[in-house]
Amino acid sequence: MTMGKFVTKAVIPAAGLGTRFLPATKAMPKEMLPVVDRPAIQYVVEEAVNAGLTDLLMITGRNKRALEDHFDREPGLEQALELKGDQGRLDLVQQASDLGPIHYVRQGEAKGLGHAVLCASQHVGNEPFAVLLGDDLIDEAETLLTTMMEVQQKTGGSVIALIEVDPSEISAYGCADITAIEGEDYVRVNSLVEKPAVGEAPSNLAVIGRYVLHPSVFGVLENTEPGRGGEIQLTDALQTLAAGEGEGSGVYGVVFKGRRYDTGDKLSYLKAVITLASERVEFGEDLKTWMKAFVG
Ligand code: G1P
Repeated sequence: MTMGKFVTKAVIPAAGLGTRFLPATKAMPKEMLPVVDRPAIQYVVEEAVNAGLTDLLMITGRNKRALEDHFDREPGLEQALELKGDQGRLDLVQQASDLGPIHYVRQGEAKGLGHAVLCASQHVGNEPFAVLLGDDLIDEAETLLTTMMEVQQKTGGSVIALIEVDPSEISAYGCADITAIEGEDYVRVNSLVEKPAVGEAPSNLAVIGRYVLHPSVFGVLENTEPGRGGEIQLTDALQTLAAGEGEGSGVYGVVFKGRRYDTGDKLSYLKAVITLASERVEFGEDLKTWMKAFVG
C-alpha cells in the first residue's frame, strides 16, 4: 500500500464561456446562475470545504469578476442589513465569504479543461489535489469526495468519479473502461475516451466532475495535444496516466450511486432547481402541491 501526501487543495475550474446557457450567460458567469437561492458555484465550494479541503483555487477568466465578488465580504450590504436588524439575511450573505480565502488564477485562453487544470500547477506544486467542476452538484449528504481522497491515499494514483448512464447519453461525457478489483469498492480504470460516439463507447460508465489527481498529471498535460473539440482534454491526460507505469501513474474509479444534479444545460438545470427547491423546508411542500396542480 502506498501512502500518499494528504489532500488539502481543491482546484475549481470556472473559466468556461457558458455557451450552452446563452443568453443568460452573455454578461454573467454561468457559475452564478442561482440554484434556488445560492449560485451554483457556492454548492461546489461548500462541498470542498465540507470535505476538509482548506486551500481553494478557482480558475477564472475574463468576465468572471462576479465570482470573486460573491466570495468576498460586502461591507456596505452587511452594514445595511445589520442596521435593519436582519440577522437571517446577514448570515446568508456572510456564509459565502466565511468559506475561507479563495485563490484565483486566470486561464487567459479558453483552451479546454486540461489547460485550465494545468493553470493550477504552480499553486498546487507536488501534491495530490482535488478538482471539482461546477456543472455537477453532489448532494451535501454524500461523501463522494472523501471516499475518492481515501482511494487516492491508498493507491497513490489518480481517482475519477463515474456514474452509470443510459448508453444513449455517453457521448456527453468522458467514458471509462474498467476492471473490478477483488475486495475493493473502487475499480481500476484501463482506458478513457472523451465523449465517444454512441456505439463506440467502451462502457456506459461516465466521468463526472470530481477528480483527485496525482501531480504527475501536470507534466502529462504539458505534453497533451488538443483533442476533442480542439481543446486540451483532462480525459486524454488521464488516459496517458492510466496506460502508463511508474510513479504517479494508475487511474482508479469510484462508481457513484448517490444523488447528483447536473446544472450544465437548460433542462437538467431546471430539474436540479426543482428537485432542490422541493426539499427546502420553507417552501418545499407548497411547491410540490403547486406542481401537482400545475401538471394536472
Ligand atoms: C467535462 C469532461 C468530461 C466529463 C464532464 C463531466 O466535459 O471533459 O470528460 O465527463 O466534464 O461533467 P464538459 O461537460 O466540460 O464538456
